[in-house]
Amino acid sequence: MKEKIETLRQTITSEIEQTQTGRAVYELKVRFQSELKEIMSGMKDLPKEERPAFGKIVNEFKQAMEELFEARSVVVKEMEMQKKYASERIDITMPGKTRKAGALHPITLVKNQLIDIFAGMGFKVFEGPEIETDYYNFTALNTPKDHPARDMQDTFYLAENLLLRTQTSAGQIRVMEKENPPIKILSPGRVFRSDDDATHSPMFHQMEGLVVDKGITLCDLQGMLAEFARKMFTSSTKVRLRPSYFPFTEPSVEVDLSCSECGGKGCRLCKGTGWIEVLGAGMVNRRVLENCGVDPDEYTGFAFGMGIERIAMLKYGVNNIKTLFENDTRFIEQFEE
Ligand code: PHE
Repeated sequence: MKEKIETLRQTITSEIEQTQTGRAVYELKVRFQSELKEIMSGMKDLPKEERPAFGKIVNEFKQAMEELFEARSVVVKEMEMQKKYASERIDITMPGKTRKAGALHPITLVKNQLIDIFAGMGFKVFEGPEIETDYYNFTALNTPKDHPARDMQDTFYLAENLLLRTQTSAGQIRVMEKENPPIKILSPGRVFRSDDDATHSPMFHQMEGLVVDKGITLCDLQGMLAEFARKMFTSSTKVRLRPSYFPFTEPSVEVDLSCSECGGKGCRLCKGTGWIEVLGAGMVNRRVLENCGVDPDEYTGFAFGMGIERIAMLKYGVNNIKTLFENDTRFIEQFEE
């Protein structure tokens, strides 16, 4: 029996050296206990007088082994911690993960600049719906069904009398119906037309302006646009009005700005003319005022409408409108303020 104990001591002592985890130590301990139990079950076969001495040996053996397990547990625990530290180690010299800050889209930037400029002249912002009725988008703007001017603004119809608005001018009617003069509003927003080429897109943005009060003249329009041109482009930018036609303004004008690229000498951007067309405008047609319940003998007004993409393209030298909508960050991040 003593030999059995001796063998067990040797097995355990050598095997415990191999253990690497707390679990392995525990399993070995369980094995040891069952084998010891096995040995002790042979005690009953010993002569009575030998039993106490043997019991003492067993107890000492048990105690020694327990100390061994205890000591190994401490060692193994430390080993496990070291392993964990090594695998979870953070290399503080590694570059951090960077996240790019977002920025405003160039269209939003230009829209905000336009609002800032006109707000400085006392304009308030009004935003109309993108789905309009035929009445607000055309008829009330003195463009009845069958009017040839509708051709140029062919758009997406959602129902017989509902369409995606072709112009922010629809907002003029909505404001004049609700408010009494004096009126001074700016109406930015998306508009839709069946147009598609390098400088036209089926969806684009416009900025409408409307001023109605007693004694408003074309000079007021020219003065405000001159102020806008100087602030948006350069202090030497000049404004030129050319006669034009819109059903809802009379007289109507097309507004050109002196070319910011060549200063008016003539270059490729302005096609050699020194001028660049930027917007449509005019004195509000008396029929439009009447349609909204404003007395045209008492009040006059002017309106203008410009394409925000067009202003952005001129300001930033962008030659294809599509690049503004592709949202390639390499392109749009160049416009941060
Ligand atoms: N709504 C016109 C267009 O989209 C522009 C315009 C606005 C003209 C206001 C005159 C007055 O072409």
